[in-house]
Amino acid sequence: MYPDRGDNGRVIRAEAVIDLDAVGRNVRAIGNAVKGPAIMAVVKADAYGHGMVPVARAARSAGVPWLGVALLSEAQELRASGDSGRVLAWLWAPGDGHLEPCVDADVDISVSSLWALAEVADVARRLGVRARVHLKIDTGLSRNGAGIAELPPLVAAVRVEQERGTIELVGVWSHIANADRPNDQSVSDQVEVFDAAYEAIVDAGLEPSVRHAANTAAALGYPQTRYDLVRIGIGMYGVAPSTPGSAAALGLTGAMTLRARLALVKQIPAGQSVSYGSSWTAPRPTRVGLVPVGYADGVPRAASGRAAVLVAGTRCPVLGRIAMDQFVIELDDRLGDVRAGDDVILFGDAAEGAPTADDWAVASDSIGYEIVTRVSSRVPRRYVGAR
Ligand SMILES: Cc1ncc(COP(=O)(O)O)c(C=O)c1O
Repeated sequence: MYPDRGDNGRVIRAEAVIDLDAVGRNVRAIGNAVKGPAIMAVVKADAYGHGMVPVARAARSAGVPWLGVALLSEAQELRASGDSGRVLAWLWAPGDGHLEPCVDADVDISVSSLWALAEVADVARRLGVRARVHLKIDTGLSRNGAGIAELPPLVAAVRVEQERGTIELVGVWSHIANADRPNDQSVSDQVEVFDAAYEAIVDAGLEPSVRHAANTAAALGYPQTRYDLVRIGIGMYGVAPSTPGSAAALGLTGAMTLRARLALVKQIPAGQSVSYGSSWTAPRPTRVGLVPVGYADGVPRAASGRAAVLVAGTRCPVLGRIAMDQFVIELDDRLGDVRAGDDVILFGDAAEGAPTADDWAVASDSIGYEIVTRVSSRVPRRYVGAR
């Protein structure tokens, strides 16, 4: 089904195949579901492990007007790749050396406090430009953002800087804590605080043009959080925003397939244990396969003995502990002839019968976000679909 050779022409041990068409389809599916607000494609953390620049290009091709990243360095990397559209970066500490190049490159910067506003304004003054700012409101998540009590002096300072011409207040935004849970009262509570903060900002004479609060789960499940713009990360990658969950049930396709090629097939006798700790012992003579990826590749050790992979269309359980570089699977007799070199799909598209990142999340008591993001740099990425 998959070629044995990667992009560099070498026969592969393992790879993550990224379907950029799936990214585009997921963006369009979410756009149809939210009906109206603009989409920001969240491509931080190397696009959740999928590769920031190729995913950003695919999202732009699908018509996305905004890209979102956590780090200023990530925004700078997008600009270096040639992206010239709207980009918002939202997490930085005082003195970040990437601030000046980002302001110079017309990146939108999130501000949560007086120190951050002062740094952005200083940089803009030095450069002789007007920096684009989004004011972040802490509506209950207690992470970044100004709380309602801290807002009056911050809004006053924003006004002063805007009148000086150092900044333009483009956006007001927040982040929702529990949108992955249905009918959660705290979402409405956060919306109420957000609306009050926005009103206070407008009352102070400011006219931000973009309000945004929703991630994938909020955008799909809580229409009142959509405002002008929705920030879509996990849904774009075709992974469910809640665990347990199914992206397919949301009409989304997994964009990453993690595959490896069997390194060994052999028989072990009844009574022989498998891997460190001998946590699984063969109850009968058992054919096993060695999969040459492990936790150093991002395969979660917590899924030891709990996950399954796909070999020739059949689900095969992981036996015993997942080690740093390898783990063992059972190849039961239904499989017929299986050889070293044959394909193993750890996770991929549910429609093709593969386990999904969401299945691995359940097997490792984690979330789909972590499963795709943790696939390490030891695993080469290969891109398929329109680039
Ligand atoms: C501030 C912010 N907005 C949006 C997102 C995207 O969230 P999701 O991947 O759940 O769509 C994230 C991701 O963690 C985020 O930190």
